[in-house]
Amino acid sequence: MAELTAKDFPEGFKWGIATSAAQIEGAAFEDGKGAEIWDVFSRIPGKTFSGQTPDLACDYYHKYPEQLKMMRELGFNSHRFSFSWARIFPDGTGRVNQKGVDFYKRAIDEMLKLGLMPNATLYHWDLPQELEYRGGFLNRDIVSWFTEYAGFMFETFGDVVPMWATFNEPIATYVGYALGAFAPGRKLEKYGRQANHNLLCAHGSAVKRFREIFGERRDKFDMAGPNAGIVVDVWHHHPARPDDPGDCAIAELENEKAYRSYLHPIFKGGYTGALLKYMADNDCMPDILPGDFELIRQPLDFFGLNCYNRVVDSTEPADIRKTVEFAGGNYMDNGAEFYPRAIYEALHNVTENMGVNVPVFITENGTYNCEEAVVACPDGGQCVHDVTRVKYFRGFLDWLHRAITDGIDVRGYYLWTLLDNFEWTAGNSMRFGIVNTDYGAENCIPKDSAYFWKDFLKNS
Ligand code: NOJ
Repeated sequence: MAELTAKDFPEGFKWGIATSAAQIEGAAFEDGKGAEIWDVFSRIPGKTFSGQTPDLACDYYHKYPEQLKMMRELGFNSHRFSFSWARIFPDGTGRVNQKGVDFYKRAIDEMLKLGLMPNATLYHWDLPQELEYRGGFLNRDIVSWFTEYAGFMFETFGDVVPMWATFNEPIATYVGYALGAFAPGRKLEKYGRQANHNLLCAHGSAVKRFREIFGERRDKFDMAGPNAGIVVDVWHHHPARPDDPGDCAIAELENEKAYRSYLHPIFKGGYTGALLKYMADNDCMPDILPGDFELIRQPLDFFGLNCYNRVVDSTEPADIRKTVEFAGGNYMDNGAEFYPRAIYEALHNVTENMGVNVPVFITENGTYNCEEAVVACPDGGQCVHDVTRVKYFRGFLDWLHRAITDGIDVRGYYLWTLLDNFEWTAGNSMRFGIVNTDYGAENCIPKDSAYFWKDFLKNS
């Protein structure tokens, strides 16, 4: 069979590159930006790889014209990015930082000029530190703080940004409040569940505000927008041994605690019985106000699915890889399982089991640390080979295509990401880019995967 290219996908399909503010912008304390929780958390000794911070990242704040041009030259027609809340509202609420607004005006103008459709996320893990001092996501006021910020952004950029996601991967907020592994570094299961619940209410309230500003939801998705959605990551847990009740029980509970804890309230209404039981048994039931589940379940215009892999669980964790390999699975050199079917399963799962009945965008997909050494290329320049990343993309694109052939309404795909960037606690030790970066230096070397994409998208 001939290799797939972008032309095999539906007409009007969006092909894009995803990024987020804290991971690429840098200029962490420039032009009036307030501190956000990762600026603070990354400075606590031992929290990030080599104590790295988002201070410089890819310096997109200054280099956005070159970086956006690079996306366009590779053939992409959309850019998914996030706004930094603390760049707009340095204190989280109240005073607006005009220089921050102007920066996003310039960047969005540049996208439009280049032919990159802006796809914005309001919150990608970077809560203004001032709000964290006031309790952050544990304070119910987060609902009004977020709605104020969201409303301002809708009013300011609604005419030029057709796609709006409220939150990216809410589970990161859980990790930051329940497990202590992400900013802000709090560590209690009950905090995680409360933070999640308040986040979901903030999502619903912001979508209500969206409708107040832009009017009733249209019956049919229209790419011209504006459209409201949310981005959730689905890493479906599978039992290593499907006939082992212990493995099955772990996988089942993890699915309840992770993606179903967001998708169920958003698309079906309320928490599942299994999650409610878990929260009651483990003394971590959040405070739920009357009307919360109606607030959370706002009809959306699109759903953003981040899909990287599946997870395999077992009561014998040391044997997982052996068990998977015995069953015919395989792993990449970076230690992650190569399971491109994950995207096909996730698309069927969300549309058939989770109530997702709106167009889906794959808002992130990618893999890390596939780079071989920087070598001289025949044309005298430098090359970075990342053959495994190319294999990964090919695999996922193939399974994505099969899901679309099955009739699932997918309208776009965004890879993660253009340049190696600030990968949260892993700092720059995890490279996800299709273009190699030497932070701070001017050296950007397209990897094999960048050439793969250029070829895949040509004439699309
Ligand atoms: C998902 C997150 O949205 C993004 O911030 C992160 O860098 C990628 N996954 C890769 O881990």
